Amino acid sequence: MDAGLLLPSSSRSPSVIFTQDDLKKIAAYKAVEYVESGMVLGLGTGSTAKHAVNRIGELLRQGKLKDIVGIPTSKITHEQALSLGIPLSDLDSHPVVDLAIDGADEVDPFFNLVKGRGGSLLREKMVESACKKFIVIVDESKLVNYVGGSGLAMPVEVIRFCWKFTAERLRKLFEEAGCVAKLRTVGEKEEPYVTDNGNFIVDLYFKRSIGDLKVASDAILHLAGVVEHGMFLDMATTVIVAGELGLTVKNK
Ligand code: 5RP
Repeated sequence: MDAGLLLPSSSRSPSVIFTQDDLKKIAAYKAVEYVESGMVLGLGTGSTAKHAVNRIGELLRQGKLKDIVGIPTSKITHEQALSLGIPLSDLDSHPVVDLAIDGADEVDPFFNLVKGRGGSLLREKMVESACKKFIVIVDESKLVNYVGGSGLAMPVEVIRFCWKFTAERLRKLFEEAGCVAKLRTVGEKEEPYVTDNGNFIVDLYFKRSIGDLKVASDAILHLAGVVEHGMFLDMATTVIVAGELGLTVKNK
């Protein structure tokens, strides 16, 4: 499938079936159309953002983009961008980022996001909060009515010291929303997942809405032991959604 060849929904053949990965690629390629030579770019993390980074590398190789500087949001994206020959820097040297392109785990109707199921929420939030423009790329499965509405994890990065204590305080904060707090683990031995910053992640699961998101955000960040959470509020400027019926670009 050539994601660059997505037909408008009116002219699409009903026999064309897109996989979820095709849809991610379609959204990613569309976002890269906003990239211009000379830009400082936030490079996102995850299976959707990976397509965008590949595409940027391809356009650089073809000479269609020039003088790009990439700021990766994780070690894995750093490695990917290096392998593609994308010149890299960091926020210390480039504190203003022209454009970031990244995926998300949830997108609500007001462009609030949940991110970090891939574990990179802290660096993603640092880079994306320094952006003039932040394009979120998702397939339609990521759209929710409210943050937490997928029933899947809302990640919180915590320091390792007494993480159980911090997890319990997080759970108690959202007791009314039926919160369950679980340490993220990897492998059969269920070893704790360690972030690029050497911290743990506590995943929060909600049975009901957590209410005012700004209040929830402030309450989480107020807890000693919390480093950052995966709610990205009022940050996305554009959301590109690829679905079976076509591509939608929504601007704030
Ligand atoms: C990583 C992230 C990702 O953007 C998010 O998990 C979406 O990933 P994918 O594109 O693989 O569905 O926040 O920390």
